[in-house]
Amino acid sequence: MNVDVILGLQWGDEGKGKIVDVLAPKYDIIARFQGGPNAGHTLEFNKNKVVLHSIPSGIFHEGKMNVIGNGVVLDPVIFAKELAMVETYNPRASANLLISKRVHLILPTHRVLDAAYENDMGEAKIGSTLKGISPAYTDKYSRNGLRVGDTLRSDFWEMFDALTLKHLRIIQMLGASVDNMLIDGMPYTEFVALWKKSIGLLKNMQLIDSEYYLNEAIRNGKSILAEGAQGTLLDIDFGSYPYVTSSNTICGGVCTGLGIAPRHVGNVIGIFKAYCTRVGSGPFPTELHDLTGEKLQKRGAEFGSTTGRARRCGWLDLVALRYAIQINGVNRLIMTKADVLDTFDTIQLCNSYQYNGREFSYPPYEICDQQMTPALMGVIGWQQDITEVSGKEELPLKLMHYITAIENFCGAQITMVSTGPDRKQIISLGNH
Ligand code: IMP
Repeated sequence: MNVDVILGLQWGDEGKGKIVDVLAPKYDIIARFQGGPNAGHTLEFNKNKVVLHSIPSGIFHEGKMNVIGNGVVLDPVIFAKELAMVETYNPRASANLLISKRVHLILPTHRVLDAAYENDMGEAKIGSTLKGISPAYTDKYSRNGLRVGDTLRSDFWEMFDALTLKHLRIIQMLGASVDNMLIDGMPYTEFVALWKKSIGLLKNMQLIDSEYYLNEAIRNGKSILAEGAQGTLLDIDFGSYPYVTSSNTICGGVCTGLGIAPRHVGNVIGIFKAYCTRVGSGPFPTELHDLTGEKLQKRGAEFGSTTGRARRCGWLDLVALRYAIQINGVNRLIMTKADVLDTFDTIQLCNSYQYNGREFSYPPYEICDQQMTPALMGVIGWQQDITEVSGKEELPLKLMHYITAIENFCGAQITMVSTGPDRKQIISLGNH
């Protein structure tokens, strides 16, 4: 089996970028299979900190091919900016980057529509990153979308104008207007001009039929790492709908988002944080509204890498974690940001939800509009700095107990623990 998958098991921001970066040397190809620039994958190396939104996290490794798969939605402006940033570190980046012609484009009006829909929802708003993700996927499924391959057609700009006109009608219907809307701090018309210019760059990238490329690679014995964005609890089908993103963030998304058959999928590597965070609205049973929550937020620097928004923080939710492991068929767990818990005397773990006199051992359908009360069990904290630890044997015993408690509840082994943001701060537990 040549395709391993890395995905998030919570509400995104689990630190997938760092783990992909750490594991990239073992693979020939790194491929993104869903999501768009709502993602923010943070990587730290040689004292540099970079955030990737659309480009796979293998781009800083010499000789690795990076593929933006058909399941992704792409904003040409954000992509152009990101590529320029990446090229300051790796001037040959575009030689190692392939983009599926089937990738759907995020238009300027998708950004406007995203904001207009959110405004229209009022109190019930999703808390979207406002990057136009949901309107772009909506157009994909309603068969109105424009794809990267379309940029090569002679009638592309007519297609663009026709779709923009359709969007403008909806925007008007929602009581919004492009006139008073700033996109990335720019007036609409200025942003459209930049968007058009960015299409010029995109057209000159290596645009391919990536499903064919990837299947040929598999046939030739190459190894692929599929990089997920967001997290399982934001999945369009299995997350807390409607407070979700608009793609399948789960392992199944690899098959449709890259054109790879299930039998080629090997290891499913699930990433989770030692506690929980969520940005945007929606249920979060273990959320802390007190000083402990604030401490997690400060110690974990829990501010969105895409929007800068403060993330909501809470204890590790084992009920949701076990569900995510099950849905994805995870066989390797990696726990990130363990060091954030270094100074806590007691750490809580949620092992069931109570609602309406009933106990749930999985997140039920009702989680979307009913407040679940979490049942918590306390674990004694290790109260020791682990950021300098260089091997498993140096990890505090109480941290090992925390790990065992998680493994026992979830029925899966933790193979690595991340102890800080840098590439080098990762401890292998040697389970595999
Ligand atoms: P959208 O996909 O930008 O519309 O956002 C929908 C929901 O998913 C919102 O609650 C966002 O905060 C959340 N979300 C989207 N992308 C990410 C991500 O990469 N990390 C964490 N949350 C995300």
